[in-house]
Amino acid sequence: MLIVNGRRADLELEALHEISRVLSLSTDLNKAFTSTLTLVDLALGLENGTISLFDPVTGEVFVEAAPQMPDEDRILGRLRPGEGIIGRIFATGMPMVVPDIAEEPLFLNRTGTWRNLKEDPRAFVGVPLQDGRAVLGVLTADRPYRSGPTQLGRDVRFLTLVADLVAVRVRLSHLENPHRRAAQDVPAVEPSAERFPGIVGASAPLRDTLELIGRVAQSRATVLLRGESGTGKELIARAVHDASPRAERPFVTVNCAAIPETLLESELFGHEKGSFTGAAQAHVGRFEQADGGTLFLDEVAELSLAAQAKLLRAVQERQFERVGGKRTVTVDVRLVAATNRDMEEMVRQGAFRLDLYHRLSVIAVVVPPLRERRDDIPHLASHFLRVLNEENARHAELTAGAVDVLTRCRWTGNVRQLRNCLERLVVVTDADVLEPVHLPCQSPGGSTCLLERAAPPLVLEVGRPAERAPDPAPTSGPLLVAGAPREVDDRERVRAALERCGWVQAKAARALGMTVRQLGYRVRKYGIELHRL
Ligand SMILES: Nc1ncnc2c1ncn2[C@@H]1O[C@H](COP(=O)(O)OP(=O)(O)OP(=O)(O)O)[C@@H](O)[C@H]1O
Ligand SMILES: [Mg+2]
Repeated sequence: MLIVNGRRADLELEALHEISRVLSLSTDLNKAFTSTLTLVDLALGLENGTISLFDPVTGEVFVEAAPQMPDEDRILGRLRPGEGIIGRIFATGMPMVVPDIAEEPLFLNRTGTWRNLKEDPRAFVGVPLQDGRAVLGVLTADRPYRSGPTQLGRDVRFLTLVADLVAVRVRLSHLENPHRRAAQDVPAVEPSAERFPGIVGASAPLRDTLELIGRVAQSRATVLLRGESGTGKELIARAVHDASPRAERPFVTVNCAAIPETLLESELFGHEKGSFTGAAQAHVGRFEQADGGTLFLDEVAELSLAAQAKLLRAVQERQFERVGGKRTVTVDVRLVAATNRDMEEMVRQGAFRLDLYHRLSVIAVVVPPLRERRDDIPHLASHFLRVLNEENARHAELTAGAVDVLTRCRWTGNVRQLRNCLERLVVVTDADVLEPVHLPCQSPGGSTCLLERAAPPLVLEVGRPAERAPDPAPTSGPLLVAGAPREVDDRERVRAALERCGWVQAKAARALGMTVRQLGYRVRKYGIELHRL
């Protein structure tokens, strides 16, 4: 949701976030560009926005989107490179600011947009859509003449960021349609789940996400996967790699929350022999391991500010030095990052660097929560049940009633929680036919769904009473062990340390040899209830 009152920096950030969402979600370029320009106007008051693209067939720059311009005017806006202001920006690849349009000889007003410059003098800003050295088009907007130079300077910087996002989107559509000159009739790429064999589900929101993944996979653009915990971001990161031309090269994961601060630099960039105590051998870091392939920066928002500063250059230039080394290493790595945190809020609070945020979120892909794609639940349930039956030598089946209950659950822990719920059922319940009553959330006396305990109390949006009295269902803690042994060990280790340390997080973090942030991450992830003494 766009904030309409607030500081300019906040508005810019909010608008950029919304624009990157619009550009990545929409399959229709013209609509995406129209929304982008509307957002630019709403947030910053930059009016009469236009996005023009180069047409290699006619050799002209044409207006692709201009929400405030009638279509018949838009069609007139075709210029040769170098002609008029837009043609000049296109030919030079340089931004242009015109404080008073009426005074500018290059100004042609071929579209007739500005009919009343005497009463309503305007200042004009235009920036190129740059893809490396190539210029793909031009983005322009204007505002009332009285705007001072500081304001216009900020407009150029902001519009350049918007133009970068737009250029990535244009390039992606060129990649899939090299023979098409204009974007407006680009057909949607055939979706979706069939192209990604490990990913189960065919709901419209998931298909949209996968379609976008299919597009971006072809480029080297950095992708930021957003979405709640357990929605499948890690799975999708892998899918980006597998669908890319880099599929045969390494896919390397770094869990930014799991690596202790002191080791992070050496983990990412490697170290030379003897560079610090304990560095008996030279070590190749994850960036180098991923050379030619993909580096997945999981839980990227958990990085400390110091770590973010170290990462920035490598993300920007794909260059770094090993710890204790002098030689600059250059790698060819495609970056995918993921987070379930509100990064915009973190940027606002100074917990995440704005520059790194922009570098990482070139293409933001939102993985929708499970409750927004309930059509996937029956498919996922039957998929997990098949796998779990095999693992546990069982033949359990879900009744239609049980599937119905699963389909209505809120699944605050998303797909991971669904899997854990089913695993618990398969391991704990002797019955081969699993009915609603076997589900922990359906037992009398409130929720016994352990995974929901730390979440808001309502488990079912539409409650369904149990159809008959339940079997005495064992519901105590250790049953969770069946879920994910490694996670449970870690959870218990963290919980026990907190208990030993009187629930003082700083103390427990020291005892565990991790930072308070890393501990906090685990507390949230495992839903550990913090007791107050
Ligand atoms: N569409 C899907 N099809 C099959 N399995 C899925 C799907 N989505 C998620 N999963 C499974 O659900 C579990 C959680 O997914 P994943 O680890 O990718 O979540 P995440 O978004 O990275 O969560 P977090 O933010 O907590 O790290 C994994 O076991 C994953 O394999
Ligand atoms: Mg994850």
